Amino acid sequence: MDTLPTQITFKVRINDGWNRDSNLQDMEGSTAPERKAALTVVAISGSLRRGSANTGLIRAAKEICEESIPGLHINHVDISDLPLLNTDLESDGGFPPAVEAFRAKVRAADCFLFASPEYNYSISGPLKNALDWGSRPSNCWGDRAAAILSASGGSGGSRMQYHIRQVGVFLDIHFINKPEVFIKAHQPPSKFDSNGNLIDPEIKEQLRETLLSLQAFSLRLESKPANSE
Ligand SMILES: Cc1cc2nc3c(=O)[nH]c(=O)nc-3n(C[C@H](O)[C@H](O)[C@H](O)COP(=O)(O)O)c2cc1C
Repeated sequence: MDTLPTQITFKVRINDGWNRDSNLQDMEGSTAPERKAALTVVAISGSLRRGSANTGLIRAAKEICEESIPGLHINHVDISDLPLLNTDLESDGGFPPAVEAFRAKVRAADCFLFASPEYNYSISGPLKNALDWGSRPSNCWGDRAAAILSASGGSGGSRMQYHIRQVGVFLDIHFINKPEVFIKAHQPPSKFDSNGNLIDPEIKEQLRETLLSLQAFSLRLESKPANSE
């Protein structure tokens, strides 16, 4: 195993994410960076529908990780109980309980997986609402990797995906570029059963490749020395 240079700088997690560099020698009582057993992926579905194909993609991703991707753990975070964003609901930097709980889960994530339908050429209202609540000071999304999936109508959700990427610029989310997974959910042959469970083996493989890419990018982002060329 490689030994670590003693002067190397690593990113350490503070309240608003992996956003501060620290010299290892400055870290009290610490001589090496902590390597967590598994990366936690906070996975969010942009559809609140019971039989949602996008929520089905998250269930499939969880199964794939449990079966064949050691080191990656999916935490499906339900956004259905978030109130509509209204800054009048904030007081002294505090948020309604459901928002506080959501923000804590986002902050604790190592990376993100968004699975969302396209609604009228853009991000679904519920997902945009969740992104906005997480963005209120201090931003909970910052400096983590993310991947996007979409099961949608005729577009496959491409316009929605590029809109999330645009929002992610301001939220400081780093998206993997490949693979891109755009699923035309309603075109035959059926890709989901009536409960939204993914039944298409080719899409399962694309999902697996997406998760592996997210894992690799997330690890690179967490451990890259800040002063490397
Ligand atoms: C309000 C609304 C707007 C939609 N707009 C689009 C759209 O712009 N492009 C598209 O491909 N599909 C569109 N659809 C279809 C959904 O993306 C599609 O039914 C998707 O499978 C729903 O995801 P779910 O199964 O996870 O609920 C729209 C659906 C709704 C309800």
